[in-house]
Formats: sequence, C-alpha cells, structure tokens
Amino acid sequence: MSSNSIGQRYAFTSFGESHGKCIGSVIDGCPAGLELEEKDIQKMLDLRRPGQSIITTQRKEEDKVEIISGVFRGYTTGAPITMVIWNQDQRSHDYENLTLRPRPGHSDYPAHVKYDGFNDYRGGGRFSGRLTATFVMAGAIAKKLLSQTIRVDTYSYTCQVGKIKMNSHDIPKAENSIYSNEVRCPDTKMAEKMRAVILAAKRSGDSVGGVIESITTNLPVGLGEPIFGSLESDLSKALFSIPAVKGVEFGSGFYGSTLYGSQNNDEFITKNGKIVTRTNNAGGILGGLSTGMPLVLRVAFKPASSIAKKQRTVDIKTKRPVSLIVQGRHDPCVVPRAPPVVDSLVSIVLVDHALRAGFIPPVIR
Ligand SMILES: Cc1cc2nc3c(=O)[nH]c(=O)nc-3n(C[C@H](O)[C@H](O)[C@H](O)COP(=O)(O)O)c2cc1C
Repeated sequence: MSSNSIGQRYAFTSFGESHGKCIGSVIDGCPAGLELEEKDIQKMLDLRRPGQSIITTQRKEEDKVEIISGVFRGYTTGAPITMVIWNQDQRSHDYENLTLRPRPGHSDYPAHVKYDGFNDYRGGGRFSGRLTATFVMAGAIAKKLLSQTIRVDTYSYTCQVGKIKMNSHDIPKAENSIYSNEVRCPDTKMAEKMRAVILAAKRSGDSVGGVIESITTNLPVGLGEPIFGSLESDLSKALFSIPAVKGVEFGSGFYGSTLYGSQNNDEFITKNGKIVTRTNNAGGILGGLSTGMPLVLRVAFKPASSIAKKQRTVDIKTKRPVSLIVQGRHDPCVVPRAPPVVDSLVSIVLVDHALRAGFIPPVIR
C-alpha cells in the first residue's frame, strides 16, 4: 500500500491496522515552539472515541494517545512528531467468515483481490473507521496551530441523519452546542429526532447515513494553489479519504446548480473597511482560493455497511451465492463520531496551505 501520507509542508502519515498492535501518526513539518502535551490531542480524540453512547459501536477503546517523538520540555521541536494509540479491545474472530464472504458495501472484496489475500482483514484492517483516530491526532495539532497563530477556527457538526435535517442555525449557537448531545447536532430538538432514527435503525438490525457540515472562520484571503492544489481540490481529496464518505460540496453546492447566476453570485460589499460578500454561496472559495468569507462545506456519509440483517453475497472461491450474517460491533450511524474527523482533515489541509503561503512561520514565539 502506498498513499498513506498527505500534505507538503505539514506532511502527515497514518499507520496501523484496526486489530493490529497500534495505530499512529507521524507529522513532519510542524513548526517548532508550539506548546503541546498529550491532553491537547486527547481532548479531541475523546470526542471520536467508540462506545460512548448507545448510538455508536460498543467496542471499548480508551484511545489514549502517547507522543513518542518531536516534543521536548512541552514544546514541539520541529522534528517529526510521532504519536501512537495501543489497540485494546479487538475481537478478531468476528471477521473470520468475511475473508471469503465479502460484506456488501465494505472493502472486503476489492481489498482481497488487490492484495491477493495478504491484507489484514481483521476489523477492516487499514479500511476501518478506527484509522480516523490517526487523522484526529494530526488534526488536533493542526487545529491548535491554526487557532494560536492566525486565529482560524473550524467546527463541524451533524446537520442530517437519514431524512431528518437540522433547521436553520446561526454560527455562534452551533459552536456552543455541538457536543451537548450524542448526535453532535447543535439543533437540540432535531438531535432528538435524529437519535430516534439511529436507534430505530439499530433495533431493526440496520444502519443509516447522514451529513456533516463544517464551517471555518477567519481564513486569510488567498489560501490555495490552483490548479490541482486548489483549496477545493485538496479539501475534497482529504475528506474523501474518510471511510464511508460519498459526497463533498462547498457553499450552495449541488443546490447552486439549480439557480441562476443572478441568484448564486455573491455581491461584493465593504464592511468595516474590509471587502466581503453579502451572501456566501461560494462557501468561501473562488478560483480555488479562499475569499476571506467563512469556508462552508458539507460531507455526506453512507449508511455503515456492516448491518445485523441477513444479507446475500458470493463466496469468492466457489463464486456461488451464500448468505451472510455480519458479526462484530458496528456503528448504526457513523456520523455522530465523525465531526472531529471532518474538523481534523479540514485543519490538516488548511495548516498545510497556511504554512506554504507563509501565514504561519517555521518557529512560533
Ligand atoms: C468513524 C467511523 C466509524 C465507522 N464504523 C463502521 C462500522 O462500525 N461498520 C462499518 O461497516 N463501517 C464503518 N465505517 C465505514 C467503513 O470503514 C467504510 O464504509 C468501509 O471502509 C468502506 O469504505 P467506503 O465506504 O469509503 O467505500 C466507519 C467510518 C467512520 C468514519
């Protein structure tokens, strides 16, 4: 396998497997002088951790991060930062029947063919949602860097589960209330309805998908390297690396394609001596460059494929149809665990571009 790294100046590598000894992250290019301790990272990891409520998988992992290089006397040194989490609660026997009977909707079949059976399939191996903890380790540092140096803040929240959509919201309200409920939706009334949809899916041995919205404030104008390193290109690439993501849209997105130019264009105005736009259908990006308006994007997650219902599949060896009951502990909806993951990948891409553009210096004082 290659392509386990992302970023040019803030280069992040993810390693480990779901049921291997550990999972971890290496960051090469983090500026020196950032005050950093394990609890800075742990805080964000705890928001993603499995087994926190009845609407997530019951796998019990502490997800306790250890920093093993790149930090000295409480500050980053400029050397690669290596972080690990030791896996604790694996039940690999649940996955034995999947080696030859691929789960519909999961990576089992193409992974088995591509790696000729050598891939570690236990718990989904490299394809597991568990690997998103490595994104969060790198993302927590990126988020702290962005916030401390250029006061850029990202927050992401559940805005849809199944067909239940969050009502209109205002930005500060969202910031305060995302983590006030298990669904991670700032609209607490709708959060209750979303929770009920997830529980109903779980009770019937099924799963349900949803959407996460992410907003980043205070971005400088001009981040992004068109053409192929445009902000939209790099963010999409990173966000599509999250397992179960099937769609990414910016600003008015797909809905914008139903409008007229006169409706979708964002008029430039001056506010407190600053050039801004009256609306933000562009989602804060024009020509692949940040405009200085909030970056607004949405990420669509499919329903998790590992469901308790009996399914049909094909035996890879005999090519005969067989039935399948998926064992193991799975998320009935991956969305409530994913806001910190979306936050992380957005921050990793933004910090990389901010370093490339010189907005963040190589040493922080
Ligand atoms: C936080 C998180 C948790 C996940 N948990 C599960 C799970 O419990 N069961 C499952 O089948 N898929 C889960 N997934 C999704 C699978 O890993 C993913 O669907 C699979 O690797 C196939 O990749 P694809 O859906 O991107 O094509 C999870 C994804 C995320 C982001």
